[in-house]
Amino acid sequence: MAVDLLLGLQWGDEGKGKIVDVLTQNYNLISRFQGGPNAGHTLIFDGHKHVLHTIPSGIFHKEAINVVGNGVVIDPVIFNKEIKDLSQFDIDFKKVLLISRKAHLILPTHRLLDAASEKAKGKDKIGSTLKGIGPTYMDKTGRNGMRVGDLELDNWKEVFEKLAQKHISMLDFYNVELDYDFGALKEQFFTAVEKLKELTFIDSEEYLHQAIKNNETILAEGAQGSLLDVDFGTYPFVTSSNTTAAGACTGLGIAPNQIGEVFGIFKAYTTRVGSGPFPTELFDEDGATMAKIGNEFGATTGRARRCGWLDMVALKYACQVNGVTQLNMMKADVLSGFETLKVCTAYQYKGETITHFPYNIEPENVQPIYTELKGWKEDLTGMTSEDQLPQALLDYIDFVEKSTGIKITIVSVGPDRKQTIER
Ligand code: IMP
Repeated sequence: MAVDLLLGLQWGDEGKGKIVDVLTQNYNLISRFQGGPNAGHTLIFDGHKHVLHTIPSGIFHKEAINVVGNGVVIDPVIFNKEIKDLSQFDIDFKKVLLISRKAHLILPTHRLLDAASEKAKGKDKIGSTLKGIGPTYMDKTGRNGMRVGDLELDNWKEVFEKLAQKHISMLDFYNVELDYDFGALKEQFFTAVEKLKELTFIDSEEYLHQAIKNNETILAEGAQGSLLDVDFGTYPFVTSSNTTAAGACTGLGIAPNQIGEVFGIFKAYTTRVGSGPFPTELFDEDGATMAKIGNEFGATTGRARRCGWLDMVALKYACQVNGVTQLNMMKADVLSGFETLKVCTAYQYKGETITHFPYNIEPENVQPIYTELKGWKEDLTGMTSEDQLPQALLDYIDFVEKSTGIKITIVSVGPDRKQTIER
């Protein structure tokens, strides 16, 4: 009677899609609990590459039911495109993809507000994915939002119009130039809503409650990463939802004592896309090598990701906030070829050495303190079991396990489903 969680421990893009895909065979039900189409979960199998944005990563496993929980924000236009892109897979979406009536809708005018807000901020912009995430969650907490369940009302178009007109008048406040055709956006939205209505809307908290009672196996799939959490991340350079474990409770309606395993996913190094502080960021050849070998470009926006060494201060903090019970190390193969590897084990913070994640990690306050570990040369991408891994990688794994006190149960050595070593 437990729900397992899978969460990113850094700034997103840790490889959650791949691990959910690998783990899905153990679960009857996969659910997303927060975020929206700002996410890009990449899955590679049988020579196919797929990027999912809002649809849970269990969609490729025929037996699994996929639930989009109340904590998620849905853009019907992007959602339908995602479904269309999956047309070759013969998926019975009405049966295996269930949507919470309480999930909030991203209106086209939310996207406009996102763009206007970012434009007005200039060089201080968040680096948002411009998918309308912040404005949609603002309407949710401000109690003005439009929910999936509203689409079942006869007058849903009036509800839309009222909210959209409010957004349009808010755009004036930002006083920035924005080119848009509201009529065209509205039409595109209405068409997408009609398609969305062909799917199944549910009271997802009740559905999940019954599933737990019936001993179904459930995996909750996080999006973004812990350091982008609106409360515990590097505020204000964060997303607008709780990406950490507690978000699964509010985003699905499950109680804390129903949570079982918490899988914490992290890259063997660190990346960040968008603005905001990043203490271990590299601006040299090493960073460029990680970006190149790791193909570090955003799955949603195509933007280049910033790269740096593994930050144990941040990783330990994320393990603590989430109650991680198992660690999964991703992209170990990208570090092959480095003579030495640096791991940040403390921060020099306002003249003091600290080992906890402080209120503010702006570069003027924080400098990383590194421990050096030996690198390895071997190509890991064809390795299939732990006994093939080089000793230097085993030492790196051991270092992380000793620092966190948590076992690394999966080491990923390539993007394909098959390039996964279980320990
Ligand atoms: P937003 O969620 O689109 O408002 O973006 C806020 C910040 O979170 C920006 O720095 C984005 O680059 C970052 N972000 C949002 N979603 C993701 C993700 O799925 N992976 C990595 N970064 C993300």
